[in-house]
Amino acid sequence: MQSLQIIKCFILLTSILAGCYYDVEEELYGTTECTTTDISYVQDIVPILRVDCYECHSVEANFGNITIEGHSQITEYVNDGSLLGSINYEAGYSPMPQGGSQLLDCEIAKIEKWIIDGAPNN
Ligand code: HEC
Repeated sequence: MQSLQIIKCFILLTSILAGCYYDVEEELYGTTECTTTDISYVQDIVPILRVDCYECHSVEANFGNITIEGHSQITEYVNDGSLLGSINYEAGYSPMPQGGSQLLDCEIAKIEKWIIDGAPNN
């Protein structure tokens, strides 16, 4: 009789632990998800540029005579391909951000999607 209870207890414990494991996995998956629908210049793109690029390419800094702060300014580098070329470390372009590590895959994916959408000022 007692051994049956031990078995029941074991089964219960196993399912609780399995439940925990599943939750954790779900949580991890959630954090690595990258949303690239409805990309907004103001809400999605500017915050990335502010952290990684404006230090050198704000209107004031203008390093390398390049300003990407402001929609009309960045449009020039969207159109000539150097924005994507530089953040993707493509041959023929200077890798950006200069002196820093490459942008996260999700950040690059957002910028690419924004450009595919026509790089709107939204
Ligand atoms: C530490 C300063 C610094 C940071 C941070 C930086 N840049 Fe630059 N960037 C430069 C300088 C200096 C040049 C001009 C010289 C060169 O091309 O290497 C340049 C050039 C560029 C060019 C022209 C590249 C080409 O090959 O024609 C683009 C586009 C650019 N940066 C975009 C960015 C973007 C986007 C970020 C952020 C993800 C960024 N930069 C971050 C300093 C920086």
